[in-house]
Amino acid sequence: MSRRARLLASLAAAVLVGAVAVGVRLEQRAISADLGRPRDLHGGGYVGSVACRRCHEEHYASWHRTFHRTMTAEAMPETVLGDFSGATLRRGNVTARMDRDARGGYQMTFTSPGARPRTIDVVRTVGSRRYQQYLAHDGDTYWRLPVAWHVEERRWFPMTSAFLFSDPSGEAGDAVDAVGTRPGQPVFGGGSFDRHVTRWNDNCVFCHNVAPNPARDPQSGHFATTVAELGIACEACHGPGAEHVARNGNPLRRWALEANAGADPTIVNPSRLTPARAADLCGRCHGQRIADQLAPLLEHGDPFVPGDDLAIESAPLWRDTPLGGDREAFAARFWDDGTPRLTAYEYQGLLQSPCTMRGPLTCTSCHGMHEGDPRGQIRARFGGRTSNTMCTGCHTELATSEAARLHAHHDPGGEGGGIRCVSCHMPRIVYGVLDVHRSHRIEVPEPARAAAAGRPDACTSCHVERTAAWAEAAARRLWGGSRFGSGAHVPAGTSPFEALFGGPPVARAAAADALGRAPAADAPARARRIGALLDVMDLERYPAVRHLAWRSLRRLMAPDASPGAGFAADYDPSAAPAERGAAVGRLRATLGESATAPAPALAALRAGARDRDLEIGE
Ligand code: HEC
Ligand code: HEC
Ligand code: HEC
Ligand code: HEC
Ligand code: HEC
Ligand code: HEC
Ligand code: HEC
Ligand code: HEC
Repeated sequence: MSRRARLLASLAAAVLVGAVAVGVRLEQRAISADLGRPRDLHGGGYVGSVACRRCHEEHYASWHRTFHRTMTAEAMPETVLGDFSGATLRRGNVTARMDRDARGGYQMTFTSPGARPRTIDVVRTVGSRRYQQYLAHDGDTYWRLPVAWHVEERRWFPMTSAFLFSDPSGEAGDAVDAVGTRPGQPVFGGGSFDRHVTRWNDNCVFCHNVAPNPARDPQSGHFATTVAELGIACEACHGPGAEHVARNGNPLRRWALEANAGADPTIVNPSRLTPARAADLCGRCHGQRIADQLAPLLEHGDPFVPGDDLAIESAPLWRDTPLGGDREAFAARFWDDGTPRLTAYEYQGLLQSPCTMRGPLTCTSCHGMHEGDPRGQIRARFGGRTSNTMCTGCHTELATSEAARLHAHHDPGGEGGGIRCVSCHMPRIVYGVLDVHRSHRIEVPEPARAAAAGRPDACTSCHVERTAAWAEAAARRLWGGSRFGSGAHVPAGTSPFEALFGGPPVARAAAADALGRAPAADAPARARRIGALLDVMDLERYPAVRHLAWRSLRRLMAPDASPGAGFAADYDPSAAPAERGAAVGRLRATLGESATAPAPALAALRAGARDRDLEIGE
């Protein structure tokens, strides 16, 4: 190349570099303008979690471990947890058989007298932690099947045992009673066996998936239901991500974002939201609510996008929320003082907490979605488990263990982690998914007030041998009298032992659970607990409560045995009365004096026990 040519070439190169530099500067200006421009994510496109993985490998992995991800899935070997190797479940005169077809597909066959056996394909799974339910497909509709798999206990059970419903009227084993199937609903086992067969399209779809849309045709009533992704994936919490993914294809934009850790308006980062808006995005699924207008919701789907005010389109359900003028319609889901007593009301509990009403407490103050143990999803900075540091970050005056001990009048460092803030301020009084959970309404434990609301109190959830009146008087002794009375006027019947036989079903459930958790008692007290639990396993009318009593018995007798095997493994909480009675009889014989027959007073209570015939589906 001649000198002149070389000169020209380097000139051209310089011009090119300059042009690139100008281009980059223009591009950077465009990028910062773009990053400064707020977006309305409503109507944005959804791309699915796999599209996010490319750039957010770690967040993908931490989400992938959670039960949120596996909430809804197509039925496949990787997702189906139940035993489909020909296992059977009998309930009254219905038999369900779970097996595989010739091509490996999952199926259930229901047989009942007078009807031809019905075999249906299982196409989807719902749940993976406590239990797994199954869906069948019929035309435009998915139906929840009447049989589910308990993951930990490794056994099949009828859905009638999962909710707070009593045994069908008449004999517990009688499958066919007055509760027929609703019009338009397919028949599997028939009668009350099918009581919890429910349509997925306009119910479950809302809380277990991304961008749910029932797409119900208002004229024909047909469904063309869609979700952006099955399960609770990235865009359920971060909003639609199509634009975010497209824009960040540009490396300069990625550098700009990474260099100044700035916000990207094309996606929602919950940690940049106000505490109220952050809670709203969880409350959409963790706070049962009622839509202002149902028809558009069913036709066009849930318009909520993370960052929205949840109150715009819907209102959380409260105890006195009217339904067609009926102010009692939802009352059964709450204690008499308005405290939620079912799961999926954590949002309501939070809104009732002074820490939220007068402070910045939100769901993600305690829970992390990308860290810690997937069971409970407690933030890693609290050691990934429930600890006092959850509270003392704000209540700093109680941060030292000495201060906590003085405040609580109990040893915070005692056996099994000791008595923690949540033991008194977030007691286990909430029923759901065959378990008893912590209340999310943070409040001062006041035994008299709890008893007046027919509610278990925090103190006697550990002091199970005592009454609420005792707890009120003890609290007055320990904390002084300004808040607590003498206990003299506390209504009777609210101690765990009394509640176990005479209380409403949620109180019975909480008591059955408490008896298996309460700190060690002496031998006679322990024998009374075991005797009472056996009584419940035998005579209680609600299978869900029998299940909890059975679990508590096993916790007391064999805390280390695996839940599916070992002590009392041949007892089935949903079996017919005679079968249950026989299993309990065998247990009594084995246990001898370590199970005391309940005192006559308890037997009398039991005889007089009134069920308020509470029935709560979900
Ligand atoms: C092409 C790469 C790319 C893809 C694909 C991608 N992101 Fe991002 N995302 C980024 C970059 C770069 C940032 C800014 C730096 C950071 O926070 O990692 C970011 C930031 C974020 C933030 C924080 C935003 C803020 O304002 O603080 C969230 C939340 C997020 N992404 C979620 C998602 C989700 C959900 C998906 C899938 C729908 C996704 N991303 C897909 C590149 C990508
Ligand atoms: C209002 C929102 C909402 C609706 C509607 C809803 N669920 Fe849930 N569901 C939840 C929440 C929240 C949990 C978690 C409860 C917990 O862990 O304490 C849950 C838990 C479950 C579980 C237990 C999961 C596990 O891994 O153990 C199953 C199974 C389930 N739901 C199935 C269904 C089915 C089937 C329907 C429809 C008939 C339905 N749900 C409707 C919010 C909802
Ligand atoms: C159940 C809700 C939920 C789901 C599902 C979820 N996230 Fe998150 N994510 C959060 C919350 C809340 C934060 C805020 C950080 C925090 O509180 O720890 C967050 C933070 C992030 C951030 C970091 C933003 C920052 O502060 O730097 C990224 C990136 C992210 N998520 C990506 C994803 C991706 C990718 C997926 C799916 C593979 C996903 N998330 C699924 C709730 C969720
Ligand atoms: C994000 C900060 C924050 C966290 C975390 C927090 N609180 Fe609070 N809490 C507050 C604020 C603010 C108030 C209201 C104080 C006031 O009214 O002066 C409050 C009030 C209370 C009260 C008073 C109740 C009443 O009826 O007056 C109790 C009890 C309480 N908190 C217990 C707890 C417990 C237990 C935890 C942990 C499980 C906790 N808090 C976590 C901020 C917080
Ligand atoms: C002050 C701390 C705190 C706040 C705030 C909080 N939680 Fe919790 N949450 C807990 C604790 C403690 C548990 C019990 C964990 C355990 O037993 O493993 C729990 C349990 C849960 C569970 C049940 C896990 C199970 O047993 O199945 C769900 C669901 C849940 N929280 C959701 C929420 C939602 C949604 C919000 C906001 C509306 C919220 N939480 C706010 C502390 C908190
Ligand atoms: C799209 C609905 C949806 C959203 C949004 C959602 N969740 Fe959940 N969450 C669920 C369901 C359903 C379950 C039950 C999963 C299971 O157990 O299989 C659950 C489970 C949980 C659990 C219990 C995990 C365990 O098994 O112990 C916690 C804690 C929790 N969610 C907190 C949150 C918080 C905090 C947010 C907001 C940042 C949030 N969730 C957002 C539906 C949702
Ligand atoms: C053994 C039960 C128990 C435990 C454990 C306990 N508290 Fe309390 N807490 C109480 C009682 C009772 C009161 C009401 C005291 C009063 O009115 O004098 C109270 C009151 C409070 C208040 C409100 C103070 C006020 O002046 O109204 C806060 C905040 C609080 N507790 C936080 C905590 C925190 C944080 C922890 C854990 C470090 C904790 N508590 C552990 C029983 C307990
Ligand atoms: C998590 C379980 C737990 C909770 C909740 C609890 N306690 Fe206790 N309590 C214990 C244990 C264990 C002891 C004995 C060891 C100790 O003093 O720490 C005890 C001891 C006591 C004692 C002294 C011994 C006795 O039996 O007379 C009193 C009084 C007492 N508690 C009252 C209360 C009151 C009132 C509340 C509610 C505000 C309460 N406790 C909540 C577990 C609990």
